[in-house]
Amino acid sequence: MQRRTKVIAIANQKGGVGKTTTVVNLAAALSARKRAVLVMDLDPQAHATLGLGLEKQQGVSIYPVLLGEKQIADVIQPTKWNNLNVIPSEVDLAGAELEFGVREDRLTMIRDALGPVKDSGAFDYIILDCPPSLGIVMTSSLVASDGVLIPIQAEFLAMDGLALITGSIERIRQSVNPALELNGIVFTMVNSVAKLTHDVIEEVRGHFGDKVYETLIPRNVRVSEAPSMGTPVVFLDPRSKGAESYKAFAWEFMAKNPTRFDMPSAAAPAPTPAPAPEPEPVPEPVPEHASSPTPAPEPEPAPAHEPQV
Ligand SMILES: Nc1ncnc2c1ncn2[C@@H]1O[C@H](COP(=O)(O)OP(=O)(O)O)[C@@H](O)[C@H]1O
Ligand SMILES: [Mg+2]
Repeated sequence: MQRRTKVIAIANQKGGVGKTTTVVNLAAALSARKRAVLVMDLDPQAHATLGLGLEKQQGVSIYPVLLGEKQIADVIQPTKWNNLNVIPSEVDLAGAELEFGVREDRLTMIRDALGPVKDSGAFDYIILDCPPSLGIVMTSSLVASDGVLIPIQAEFLAMDGLALITGSIERIRQSVNPALELNGIVFTMVNSVAKLTHDVIEEVRGHFGDKVYETLIPRNVRVSEAPSMGTPVVFLDPRSKGAESYKAFAWEFMAKNPTRFDMPSAAAPAPTPAPAPEPEPVPEPVPEHASSPTPAPEPEPAPAHEPQV
């Protein structure tokens, strides 16, 4: 069955704004809802790789694929959880900025590398964890993407940072990827008692309207503890405030980015703004990618765990 695969870059040139945390937990929450997800870790620090329970391993990343030494299917790794796969990062990616900066196809190299995976329809979502700079890796990630999701903190000068990245998106849209959309802006590490927080959120909403996700991700200690356990907080402590908010965010994300599961049927043409909450998924992990013993809440079968690329 062919799926419409959406490629979403999670990007902000600033470090420490919650990009990787959002990649890991959005991917985990989507996979728990039976969406087939591939995370590509493009940051040489490999925090998304580690946060999803994988080790860094030399030669297992997009890097050898970009060099033409490996096929992309060879570097897609399963995680401990169903429907959740990763193209890990490795230290060699740190050289990519310089090394690939002189390539003629530097802007399209990631899009070309991802082509076979996207065309295979094996995944609902491919989520790219971008490094914190406006360099060649981030730019070519945006060229490869259908949408850009920007995590930001509600702090002084937030609008300035947003102007930088939305400017980059606009330039890419006007040149090499006219289809690129601003998927949305999500506030992370929100301190709900601070007045400045509310003022900044209002200012950004005033400017970007419904591009700003309703769900606010609060600052929550369980979120910051989870990476050291190699487990997304949505699996580690599903009832924590951080996990609940990432799950709510994933619902909003799915409603804005429908896959085959969410398409309104011919019998029910009136589109609903958000899908009705499904029953809680079975807490992961599932050993050795065995099929989940509980029936899927969706009308269609769960996607295969091992993507056929
Ligand atoms: N909602 C949150 N509550 C508490 N700590 C968080 C939250 N989101 C992120 N962090 C922590 O903040 C730091 C930076 O987050 P990270 O996702 O790595 O940002 P980036 O990828 O943008 O550099 C990490 O230590 C992470 O664990
Ligand atoms: Mg990061």
